[in-house]
Amino acid sequence: MVNLSIPLIDSGKQNLSLINPILVASGTFSNGLEMSKHKDIEKLGGIISKGTTIKPREGNNTPRLIETPSGLINSIGFQNIGAKKFIKEIVPIWQKWKVATIVNIMGYTIEEYGILAELFDDINAIDALEINISCPNVEAGGIEFGQDPQLAKEVMKIIRKKTEKPCIVKLSPIVSNIQEIVSVLQDNGADAVTISNTYPAMAIDINKRQPVLGAKFGGLSGPAVKSMTIRNIYLSYKIAKIPIIASGGIMNTEDVIEAMMAGAAAVQIGTATYIDPNAPWQIIKKLEHYCKDNNINDISSIVGTAVS
Ligand SMILES: Cc1cc2nc3c(=O)[nH]c(=O)nc-3n(C[C@H](O)[C@H](O)[C@H](O)COP(=O)(O)O)c2cc1C
Repeated sequence: MVNLSIPLIDSGKQNLSLINPILVASGTFSNGLEMSKHKDIEKLGGIISKGTTIKPREGNNTPRLIETPSGLINSIGFQNIGAKKFIKEIVPIWQKWKVATIVNIMGYTIEEYGILAELFDDINAIDALEINISCPNVEAGGIEFGQDPQLAKEVMKIIRKKTEKPCIVKLSPIVSNIQEIVSVLQDNGADAVTISNTYPAMAIDINKRQPVLGAKFGGLSGPAVKSMTIRNIYLSYKIAKIPIIASGGIMNTEDVIEAMMAGAAAVQIGTATYIDPNAPWQIIKKLEHYCKDNNINDISSIVGTAVS
């Protein structure tokens, strides 16, 4: 028997354990309701909600999603039902599922992050929070929280005050020094980091001579970004005292192994599900075969093995 389980976070107060390292990435799985009609959600390592804000959001003008030769550019604009409706309508459904559940939250001010963390703090059906810090700070001229170590620190500090839930901070990939951001977050109470969100991108319609996306700019995901994800994980693993979760271009089982050898304890699948909605389940099955074929008894034994 291969042991695929991952004891991801043990904060001393609350734990987050996964039955396998495969999570579904925020925004690419909605809140799981549609998929649960077709697939066994409980076979996944965990599910992550759509990015949730305090108030409902209608999102950006269309088009919001375009295909590139090696990935997707999205500019959904955080369309979501808002935290209160999420708690009322989604949480009771999640409560019935035996799977690790993670709510992805996003604020436009430091205070908003605190409010969101407090709102979810005493909800037993939520196992952890993923905090998206790739969001423009409206009080600081629109700079992303995740691009400024000081702002990232402030966000983490307020969140830690408001919740004892395991907190996973999802980093922005466009930073001058990823190790600095990881250090600041772990020193201020983060329990894990997700590396990372999408990369700023755009496309031009050459017939109309204008940007394709309604919001002009979006975030690039998919195979195009995998090598950058791997590098950022590798560099972060060298200094991280907390677990790293990979996100960005993980399309198949080999990519999962690569990310884990670079230092990821778990992995998120996003764009791959647009090619094949079965991808996360296929990857879990093949991961077990890979381990058997390579005499790996415990999947967590490969984490960071390529880092020197
Ligand atoms: C359509 C779409 C919507 C997304 N929405 C969110 C979101 O609401 N919150 C968030 O943190 N990340 C969001 N992401 C980013 C993904 O969770 C993931 O980090 C990114 O796509 C990189 O992984 P991938 O290459 O496997 O897709 C979204 C990505 C896509 C493609």
